[in-house]
Amino acid sequence: MRIVVGVGGGIAAYKACSLVRKFTETGHHVRVIPTESALQFVGKATFEALSGNPVQTGVFADVPEVPHVRLGQEADLVVIAPATADLMARAASGRADDLLTATLLTARCPVLFAPAMHTEMWEHPATIANVATLRAHGSTVMEPASGRLTGADTGPGRLPEPEEIFALASLLLERSDALPRDLEGRRVVVSAGGTREPLDPVRFLGNRSSGKQGYAMARVAAQRGAQVTLIAGNTIGLEPPAAVEVVHVTTAEQMGTAVDKHSVGADAVIMAAAVADFRPVNVAAAKIKKGAHEPNSIELTKNRDILAGLVQARRDGQLGGLAIVGFAAETGDEHGDVLTHARAKLARKGCDLLVVNAVGEGKAFEVDNNDGWLLGADGTEQSLDHGSKALLASRVLDALGPLLR
Ligand code: CTP
Repeated sequence: MRIVVGVGGGIAAYKACSLVRKFTETGHHVRVIPTESALQFVGKATFEALSGNPVQTGVFADVPEVPHVRLGQEADLVVIAPATADLMARAASGRADDLLTATLLTARCPVLFAPAMHTEMWEHPATIANVATLRAHGSTVMEPASGRLTGADTGPGRLPEPEEIFALASLLLERSDALPRDLEGRRVVVSAGGTREPLDPVRFLGNRSSGKQGYAMARVAAQRGAQVTLIAGNTIGLEPPAAVEVVHVTTAEQMGTAVDKHSVGADAVIMAAAVADFRPVNVAAAKIKKGAHEPNSIELTKNRDILAGLVQARRDGQLGGLAIVGFAAETGDEHGDVLTHARAKLARKGCDLLVVNAVGEGKAFEVDNNDGWLLGADGTEQSLDHGSKALLASRVLDALGPLLR
């Protein structure tokens, strides 16, 4: 695919280098178009070396090639990172006074802006209006991350991490349309990762969930405008998604407590976590020694089913019209295939949607791609095509939107 990476003039321009690398390493053809002020932060030679292509900022180089029209026309995706307040203002008003803004005017492909600026600038009515205009024009403008900005100040305005911009960019290439803002004003709780049930201070019972699917779910929901709380169990060192509140837990019991607390007043709960069904009855205060004995057996007791608890609480009228999404990781066995087990699970759990993944043989766990089926309580069944975990998340949210009260 042909990707244009536009770079605005902000300190976060250095992060565009990692983004360019990600695109080239995954086989894309990349043209970097910085603004003149972006080159105050990162040199032209760096972008040329990373992309393997020439870099210009103005419309008067290579005039016979008409780059100010051609680059935009030929692009499959334009990503602007960092998108400064000034660059978004120029783009929103249709200016074409450098190669990047001219390219934005001629591009008919998906366009993704990854903003980076100080909180005051992000929250200024002028910027809010420009972001709304860009979205109305069909561009996807990411929610910035919160956290430390240049200097001592913190707040929303930090450039989302390159991994996150790359994930969203890949999603736009897969979807080939803008990300809808259909979850604006909604509160969504997502659980992710595996729980760990301690045996002693150094050992636990755990599972192979990486948290990637749940994180993708939280990320895409936030970028569709939702206020997201992510209840994260053990994950493989994933970056917290931009504009998402993350609550870290360890055990199934802690996850249950956190999910219950944050579900009050929420519009939807998505239980992507792999919650342990059992925990050891006894947790040793000191490390269990091997000693001279045969290994002891571990006595287990059942954990409560968080998802079933939510469904019950909703039936009892405690959670309003909360929409509830469950996940099922199935292998199929002598009693039935993956879908047979999944249909039974949907009926048993009583949630509104069940995302079904076939697991085993390197599928679903830890990897970056996923596929499966989406079963609805109304009997609808939809296959979820193979693609990134963000794509699968996006398809689930497409189905969830109409179910929200
Ligand atoms: N789940 C939960 N609390 C538990 C166990 C599971 O909330 N104690 C949720 C998971 O987050 C997931 C769904 O239930 O959304 C299905 O989990 P799964 O482990 O596949 O189902 P089980 O109920 O454990 O069924 P089985 O053991 O028969 O596969």
